[in-house]
Amino acid sequence: MPPPKSLHILILGSGGREHALLNACMASPLTASVAVAPGNAGMVGAASCHALDLDDIPATVALARELRVNFVIVGPDAPLASGVVDALAAAGILAYGPARAGARLEGSKTYAKDFLLRHRIPTAHGEKFADPALALAYLRTRPLPVVVKASGLAAGKGVIIAPTLSDAERAVRALMEERVFGASGDEILIEDFMDGEEASIMLMVSGRRYVMLPPSQDHKRVGDGDTGPNTGGMGAYAPANVVTSDVERRIVSEIIEPTLDALATEGIDYRGTLYIGIMVTRDGPKVVEFNARFGDPECQVLLPLLETDPLQLMHACARGELNPGDVRFKNGATVIITLAATGYPGTPRKGDRIVLPEILPEGTQIIHAGTCRDATGNLVTNGGRVLGAFAHGATLPEAVQRAYALVAQIHFDGMHCRGDIAARQLNRPVPSR
Ligand code: GLY
Repeated sequence: MPPPKSLHILILGSGGREHALLNACMASPLTASVAVAPGNAGMVGAASCHALDLDDIPATVALARELRVNFVIVGPDAPLASGVVDALAAAGILAYGPARAGARLEGSKTYAKDFLLRHRIPTAHGEKFADPALALAYLRTRPLPVVVKASGLAAGKGVIIAPTLSDAERAVRALMEERVFGASGDEILIEDFMDGEEASIMLMVSGRRYVMLPPSQDHKRVGDGDTGPNTGGMGAYAPANVVTSDVERRIVSEIIEPTLDALATEGIDYRGTLYIGIMVTRDGPKVVEFNARFGDPECQVLLPLLETDPLQLMHACARGELNPGDVRFKNGATVIITLAATGYPGTPRKGDRIVLPEILPEGTQIIHAGTCRDATGNLVTNGGRVLGAFAHGATLPEAVQRAYALVAQIHFDGMHCRGDIAARQLNRPVPSR
């Protein structure tokens, strides 16, 4: 373990996930200083904020050097896929997050599907296409609904669940011919639909060793009852009891262990978060997708459940020296409710004045995402997902009640949120975990 106050940290990113990472760093005895790039208004003060184009890898390395940091935590997917960790390593700077070879599990859905099928890890049947005519012909052979995915990164919006053949054809044309996600849709994946309930499994990985964080559940649709378009995530809670002990055992033996073995077999020394989107089906757990970073907003509910210092774990993963046996978790449950701007998940309106409470309800915290200061210093909206109302409680109902009590004290024009975060679990008749 590094000595106390020895880490000079740079966090890359600007969302709620990065605010939660900053909070974890601020609470760690290992932290000497924290900078964020580009950050948001909620991070100012706790950290120095620096303008940065996260797609510009040389500029990122130059900033890390200029700030003389000795540890970089990479929040979002795009810089990982572009090889920021490799570039930082070449400059002698340790970073948390997989190198480019590992990040391909998220950066290319066709690569990930081939990987899963090659290693016989449970997942839906899927085929990849670079030719729209072949994709359209294939669609006619598959049962409905069918899932159409852009292979490349698409800000969480490149997955279309098509209930009818004409919806599926429209999705193929939008991705491959209209190129709504640019080059990310030049290759697509067409998958059979998996029926079940989804859960997020977040691992902190160091080669073959890993820590599994409590299972969580995200709420991807914008409206109550899982209606309306997909978003980056309207809320999350943990632990999610859709992952029963039995399901968890199967996830470990049928998915996690084979995945980490397969990465090692393929010569990939994966160090960082491996986020496995799981569908709990009647036939058992199956992989929906891999992500190479913490989920957002799942990160915000998971880090506060760690009794062990999350920064210590990230640093140990990056060094290749993780000791999973030492890791401890807190009791209770956590929840976060996303407060979104009008227009989201389409184009959000920016510049609306935000009013926050001076005294927070017990066990709660405000996580900033799309916020900034206007020319006169007022806190205003600056993105689709503006804030997260976070709460920790002894039980999930207590956490949910606290989080909604916080929501009631926050205001900005056009603010909207879901009213049913965690309802699926709250309404489950018999807790099975
Ligand atoms: N919450 C979904 C994601 O981070 O991709």
